[in-house]
Amino acid sequence: MCGIVGYLGPMNPKDVIVAGLKKLEYRGYDSAGVAILHQGKTKRVRAEGKLKALEEKLQAEPFDGHLGIGHTRWATHGGPSERNAHPHQVRGISLVHNGIIENYADIREALLARGAEISSDTDSELVAHLLAEEVEKTGSLLKSVQNILDRIHGAFSIVAMWDQDPETMVAFKDGPPLVVGLGDNQTFVVSDVQACLQYTKKFIYLDDREVVHVHKNKVQVYSAKGEPLTKKVVEVDWSEEAVEKQGHAHFMLKEIYEQPRSVAAAMEPHLDIDKFKVRLKRVGFNQPLERLEGLDIEADWQNTQKVLKGVERIFMIACGTSNYAAMVGKYLLEKIAKVPVETDIASEFRYRDPVLPPNTLVMTISQSGETADTLAAIRLAKEKGALTLSLCNVRGSSIDREAHGHLYMNSGPEIGVASTKAFTSTLTVLNCFAAAFGQIKGTISPGEEKTYVQALLATPSQLEGVLAYDKYFSETAEVLKTYKGFLYMGRGVSFPIAMEGALKLKELAYLHAEGYAAGEMKHGPLALIDERMAIIMLVPEDGLYEKSMSNLEEARARGGKIIALGTGEDEKLRRVSAEYLPLPKALWTVNPILSVVPLQLMAYHLADNLGYDVDQPRNLAKSVTVE
Ligand code: M6R
Repeated sequence: MCGIVGYLGPMNPKDVIVAGLKKLEYRGYDSAGVAILHQGKTKRVRAEGKLKALEEKLQAEPFDGHLGIGHTRWATHGGPSERNAHPHQVRGISLVHNGIIENYADIREALLARGAEISSDTDSELVAHLLAEEVEKTGSLLKSVQNILDRIHGAFSIVAMWDQDPETMVAFKDGPPLVVGLGDNQTFVVSDVQACLQYTKKFIYLDDREVVHVHKNKVQVYSAKGEPLTKKVVEVDWSEEAVEKQGHAHFMLKEIYEQPRSVAAAMEPHLDIDKFKVRLKRVGFNQPLERLEGLDIEADWQNTQKVLKGVERIFMIACGTSNYAAMVGKYLLEKIAKVPVETDIASEFRYRDPVLPPNTLVMTISQSGETADTLAAIRLAKEKGALTLSLCNVRGSSIDREAHGHLYMNSGPEIGVASTKAFTSTLTVLNCFAAAFGQIKGTISPGEEKTYVQALLATPSQLEGVLAYDKYFSETAEVLKTYKGFLYMGRGVSFPIAMEGALKLKELAYLHAEGYAAGEMKHGPLALIDERMAIIMLVPEDGLYEKSMSNLEEARARGGKIIALGTGEDEKLRRVSAEYLPLPKALWTVNPILSVVPLQLMAYHLADNLGYDVDQPRNLAKSVTVE
């Protein structure tokens, strides 16, 4: 949940670290700090609040060193304050930490018994104490890290430096991500490649319980037992510009606007446009991730078909917005491929001892590929003998590495904490997956497959038109924000979209919103409706149109203000709605890709109008790497 940057090299560490932390601020933003070598000692500067507060403090601070570490925090142990901000320092050791040390109470008690003076409420500082004790005995930062690795339990990624060894930083992890960036005569250790993309595109992804020793820019990774390892160097193709706002007021708005392109990029690898056919490229079932790029596509497709043919049921596991995408996936896969699909929130799946019969495919969806619960869920599924398939945006992320087979969203970096383009890309890939699965299972004819492909191909340009709702919501936000609550309703594939719309409003505008299956209203929520309640009703022209219209009438009869999203010039729907928002005519399979965009824009504009920080909503972080 926190962002880490470590730097060793000839550039000014202050500039490199602060620039890197800016790219990572989406991971946590309640305090920040740096520790940088200056005249043979590490000088630490920390500030409560957003990175801007640290930048102001740092303006007047000179540094002459070549080594430093920095951190932007999302509080777990100990509230957001300067004394709890990282780096933590103990007798020449400086350290930044992302994660949770689960046995912190035992460590703290033992340290206090040995006379340690603990100056923060964090679990992280305790690791600095352990390292300080060890370096005094061993005289080596690397050895000290290796000695304490078994004594700390939980989820952590840590970078440490030591005053007495100014040419070295040591990093280690178990859980949250840590990546080593390899530059010309310089090395970076970061939570996410975005932090140093302007300097290098070459990275080593650390696996759990590995330790990296960076000494005078020589990089050596060790196993937990201290054996030297040869690690693969991955070239990342994300550009630096992709992580800039490019003239938009917020990353979220930029990412909403990118959707025509990102949706096209998501489907592109899987479509044979001339033949209107779908095939899943480079799923690479049971191929090690590093061999994926070199796969013979024809051979892989043959293997993918063989593997998927044997699948009799699917579990789709994810969190938050990715879970709503999974719910859309259920409708697609069950209707198109006639395979039973169960969806589950990862934090529930992992603790309910799920029964996974033979021939089950467990599919996990995660933009970041680092969500702790989803990662634990895929590991559990493997333990139980299931075949696993990941759908991630970040290649080489922990979940991607864990899976037997791999699909990608291809969205490019998503920086706004609220997920937008990754969601529509996921829906696009799920459309391809469902059509490919239907083809393999023989449940769809070539004509039906062509219809699905044509519907997908039309979406990028249809999305261009839907973006016009940007203006509409910027103009109506002033009025909309006065409602006491927002009820989003839909049926079929529109039901998860109703939930996604409500989640966007909650997380960005801090307004009370509920997403409901429209048919469930009379079982309780109808009682909520009065004239101060806005009803966002999804009524596309699909097989459920008449049913949805009846639900709309029920809500209207109770005085709710109806904002309806429908298909084209639907006069009947327009007449019964206070506001009618037409969407392009499309097949039911792609309707969710189109209808979610106005809901994203609505949440964006309400939050912005209310003066909230759209890209960094309170209490949230982009990637949830702790339970
Ligand atoms: O990276 P993931 O897709 O695994 O993240 C899952 C959720 O944390 C994420 O979708 C979250 O709900 C977003 N803030 C929603 O906008």
